[in-house]
This record gives sequence, structure tokens and C-alpha cells, in this order.
Amino acid sequence: MPDVLKLGFGPFAAPARGVLVVFCDEGLKFGPATTRTLGRAADLVTRAAKAERFTGKNGSALALSVPEGLKADRLVVIGAGKVAGLQQQDYVKLGGAAFGKLPVSAPEATIFAELPGGAMRADRAADLAQGIKLRAYAFDRYKTKRKDDEKPPASRKVTVAVGDVAAARSAFAPRAGIADGVLIARDLVNEPANVLYPEEFARRTGALKKLGVAVEVLDVPRLKKLGMNALLGVAQGSAHEGRVVVMRWNGGRKADAPVAFIGKGVCFDTGGISIKPAGGMEDMKGDMAGAACVTGLMHALAARKAKANAVGVIGLVENMPDGKAQRPGDIVKSMSGQTIEIINTDAEGRLVLGDVIWYAAQRFKPKFMVDLATLTGAIIVALGHEYAGMFANNDQLAERLTKAGQATGETVWRMPLGKEYDKMIDSKFADMKNTGGGRHAGAITAAQFIKRFVDDKTPWAHLDIAGTGFDSRHNDINKSWGSGWGVRLLDRLVADYYER
Ligand code: BES
Ligand code: MN
Ligand code: ZN
Repeated sequence: MPDVLKLGFGPFAAPARGVLVVFCDEGLKFGPATTRTLGRAADLVTRAAKAERFTGKNGSALALSVPEGLKADRLVVIGAGKVAGLQQQDYVKLGGAAFGKLPVSAPEATIFAELPGGAMRADRAADLAQGIKLRAYAFDRYKTKRKDDEKPPASRKVTVAVGDVAAARSAFAPRAGIADGVLIARDLVNEPANVLYPEEFARRTGALKKLGVAVEVLDVPRLKKLGMNALLGVAQGSAHEGRVVVMRWNGGRKADAPVAFIGKGVCFDTGGISIKPAGGMEDMKGDMAGAACVTGLMHALAARKAKANAVGVIGLVENMPDGKAQRPGDIVKSMSGQTIEIINTDAEGRLVLGDVIWYAAQRFKPKFMVDLATLTGAIIVALGHEYAGMFANNDQLAERLTKAGQATGETVWRMPLGKEYDKMIDSKFADMKNTGGGRHAGAITAAQFIKRFVDDKTPWAHLDIAGTGFDSRHNDINKSWGSGWGVRLLDRLVADYYER
């Protein structure tokens, strides 16, 4: 898709046309360059603020048409609230909020990266620009008709005015790479399942090769040879074959073991023979959000040339009801050798993850592993859409993830694991069963299941992203359904881990 957003940096100067966006604090104060540029228009702002009861609260906005004294045809003032405590993620959100205040049809805008104290630091201005890039994303490739007032211009030019253009540009380069990773993940999640089935998903990961990522696709004969029968059992009811993709970015020291990220990639989850009810089932095209995040993360790490060794492994299947589909009561032997009694074919994600996590651990002996999966409705009951559920066998890794979450705004909340929960998945006929039976502690018993495929010596965290991977409730930096959740979180985790 052509990049309709042309995002760049320039010096503080009054724009000759388009929209001018400036920031103020909760005292309606502006920075020096903004004050200079506004000139007489500053009085207009004061009067309009009074009339509109605009007080500069964080995220609020005031818009003026054809402001006297300015060549810009629209002036937008964005409130930054209390400026003193603003964190990185606040700048990202401010950028998103600023872009959101541009009229859909505006082809050109200038955004002054300045607060009352002066020009934003180059890294903060770059955070702001990242927020603009994230907010500007739309998944509209299947829209062939548009009402006149919904038509965006063919391209939109946004200039972020900064104190030091060169410094802002170099600070933005890695952030643009990370944002691209988020957008790749969103595209994958938003894509419908008739287009994005396992083989097609695997094909799309091939684009990472251009950035220097090694991409390996394991096909069905290979998966059979490896003994990934738990994953293959889920895939067997579909006309589309399953795949596993291994992506490797080696930007660190040669001899160093990698860190590993594992993603659930159920391209569509009907529930299988234990079929889901019809209402909302279309959302299950997003049941590959974990795999999408891992793919986007690999892009982000490669694009910013992270000094890290990272491997991403994703299990891609489609869960369908069929004459050949797996049944409740079936027993499969996983790659680990452990046997699993299938109680409910809708608890398919853990079957996929069990094999893929085992494979990743055996092959790569990673320093730590993080898996991401839209695994249970139960985690949405517990945490809603604000936090992902985190389960971990290692306190240090859990703490690192918690911190990275607070820094990026992609927050995680730790949930318990324990012997008593583990007992709930013991089976009468096999080593374990794939559901805990009953609805109690559903997210925890799912995590316990995955834990049985992890050796206790490898630090491991499982993120249940059923509530955060996709969501129709929009926010400042995302107007699309797929969120790309986790890319910024894990990019930060990797950065902190290698630069500690
Ligand atoms: N993909 C679903 C979980 C899900 C639900 C993700 C809603 C996102 C939004 C998963 O495969 C599933 O069906 N889980 C079952 C497990 C149950 C059968 C033990 C669930 O949560 O109901
Ligand atoms: Mn399911
Ligand atoms: Zn699922």
C-alpha cells in the first residue's frame, strides 16, 4: 500500500498554508517559538479558549478557522496538561491526539513540537512523530466506496517543527522502524481469514528477509517429522495446511544465545467440533494476534538494527469443524512426548503453543522466552482490554515486562500459577487434558498447560492478549481494530535487556 503519510521535520517557522498545530499547558501558556509565530492570533486563542471553556487539559483541543494574522487556514491548540511529569508514552499519545485533530481532508499540516518550557528534546519530538505515524494508520484496502466528506487526500504532508532538525531525524529513525512493526502487526490482524490463512501468513513473513532476518518456513511433512502432533491435530480439520515460521535476527554477539518470542497464530478459530456460537465469531480472524506481534517485533528489531539476538517462532493453523477434524476425546502425542486428551477443540491455542514453545526451547536454548496468545475469554473477564495477563516462572523477567509495560503504555498484570491449578488439567486417560473443566480460573489453567512445555530453568513469561490484541474501542494512537499490541512492549524489553 502506498504510504499516504509524508512525515518529516523542519525548523520552527510559520507555515504558509494548511493546519498549524501548537501545544499549550494547563495555564494556556505557549513556548517562545509558538508565541512568536502566533503573534496577534494569540489574543484570538485567549478569547476562543474562554468562549469554549478550553483550559489546556491533557488531550483537549481548541480549533480556530482562518485565524487572523496567520497564513495557515486553521489553527489547532492541543492541551498538554501538566507538562512537568510527561513521560515518553505521553508524547506518543500527544502526537496521536494532534494528528486526530486534523480535518480528514487536510492535505498539509505543521505541528510545533514545543511546550511552554521551550522546544521538546529531539527524542521527545521523535516520540511525538511516532504517535502521529501510529494514529495515521487506517485499514481501508477493502473500501471501494466513500462519502465525499470521508475522502482523505491522496497524500498528507505533516511537518513536525523542532529545535534541532538533524537530531530529531536521527532519533525518529528507530522509532519509525518500531512503528512500522506495529503497523505490520495491525495489517496482519485486520486481514480477513479468507485472505490470510497459514500459508499466506508464512509467505508475508518473507518480507523480513530484506531487512536481514533469516526466515524459515516449516511445512507439514517437516512438522510431522518433528512430531508436532498437537499443532497438527488442530490444523487437520482445515483445507489450509498448518505452518511454523522461524524468524531470526542476529544483531548481537555471535556466540550469544538468543531471546525467544513465540506467537499463537490461529488464522481463524471457529472452535472446531466444539464450535463457537455465531455472535461475534468474525473476531476470530484476529486469533493470530500473538503471531502478528512476533512478526512485527522482528521487523522492529531488524529495522532499528537492534544489538540483540532474537528469534521469533509462530505456529500458524486454522481451527475448523470438518469430517477430518479432531474430536473431543481424541488423544495426541505432542513433540515433547507428553500426551494430551482433547476435551474441547476450542481450547486449540495451547495445543499449538505447547509444540511451538517446546521446539523453540530445544532448538535455540534461549536466554528467556515470552509467548503471546489470544488464549482465553477468561482473561478478558478478569482484566478487560487495559492490561494483558502475564504468567511467569521467573520474577526478574516478570519485573522487566512490567516496567517495559509502564514505559510504553502496553501494560501487563501478573497472574498466579500454582500446583493446585496445575492439578486441574490432569487427565484420566493421558498426561493432561486441554481444559481445566468448568469455567473457573480459565486463563490460569491455560497458562498451566503451556507451563508443562517449559523447563523450569528457562525464564518464561506467557502473555494472554485476548483482551488487548484487537479491540473496537479506539484510542489516541489507534483507530483501527487490530492493535499491534506488544510490539512496542517487547521491543522495549529487548532494548532494556541488552543495554542493562
Ligand atoms: N481464541 C479463543 C480465545 C479468545 C476469545 C480470544 C475471545 C479473543 C477473544 C480461544 O481459542 C478459546 O476459544 N478459548 C476458550 C477456551 C475454553 C474452551 C477452555 C475460551 O476462552 O472460551
Ligand atoms: Mn478457541
Ligand atoms: Zn483461539
